[in-house]
Amino acid sequence: MSLVLHFADEAALARALAHELEWACGEIGCHVFPDGELRLTLPKPLPSRVVLLRGLQQPNAKLAALLIAVPAAREFGARHLSLVAPYLAYMRQDMEFRAGEAISQRHLGQALAGWFDALITVDPHLHRVSSLDEVVSGRRGVAVSAAPLLGRFVADRVPGALLLAPDEEAGQWVRAAAASGGLEHAVCHKQRHGDHEVQVALPAAGLRGRAVVLLDDLASTGRTLAVAAKAALAVGAASVDVAVTHGLFIGDALQTIRAAGVREVWSSDCVPHTSNAVSVVPLLAAAVRQVVQLPFG
Ligand code: R5P
Repeated sequence: MSLVLHFADEAALARALAHELEWACGEIGCHVFPDGELRLTLPKPLPSRVVLLRGLQQPNAKLAALLIAVPAAREFGARHLSLVAPYLAYMRQDMEFRAGEAISQRHLGQALAGWFDALITVDPHLHRVSSLDEVVSGRRGVAVSAAPLLGRFVADRVPGALLLAPDEEAGQWVRAAAASGGLEHAVCHKQRHGDHEVQVALPAAGLRGRAVVLLDDLASTGRTLAVAAKAALAVGAASVDVAVTHGLFIGDALQTIRAAGVREVWSSDCVPHTSNAVSVVPLLAAAVRQVVQLPFG
């Protein structure tokens, strides 16, 4: 038997993944003591093949839980333990931008490589390393992409849309989405001055009269999308919608995006949210099948 293990807040996604894989599904109980300590209760015994589904949005508390859950799962029988993290945090700090900054991508990758046999994620924010294998050195890393799904979804909802990447880093996802949906695309240039301050310069491509769909891997504060949407509407775009793989929508992000004139906001179900419009579950299941075919290491 093989099992998808999950926490209560991701039960729906875990059940969908287990159903797609025709595996069993088991929940980790979590009691938070008044002082913040956790008491985790795992199904016991565990089968030898276990996938732990844990998206790393709001990562810090979840990483503390993994610190306990992983050795417990091993102790209770999991020999091959993979992490499916539809959203993988800490990937953006991938170099020492200023002297003394820790390269979180590398250090988190090393920790995950120590805990898990394999890591599966969706559209990780990788720019200075070529693959997820490099992040979890010595382990198997599989990155799947929601961009083609989003591209087909947009083509269906907004025929003839111009897909617009709000920054160069999103160019890769916009190109994949455009190819999949048979749509045109263009890329903006972004400068970030702070957590909530960004400037976006539009591409030369004419936006006047076009139905623009901004597509990015991630919406966090929503400022990138809001600034890009305002700029597109200011030069005469007929409409602006938004499609993202990971809808974190921190704080007032959604209101900010809507106040900028955005019509529809769509996301994949990597992060559970009311904007979820496409499902990555079949992609995750295919990646799990690929990973568990490997002999136990
Ligand atoms: C960064 O390059 C990412 O692709 C996103 O554009 C960025 O993280 C979005 O952040 P925010 O929503 O806070 O502007």
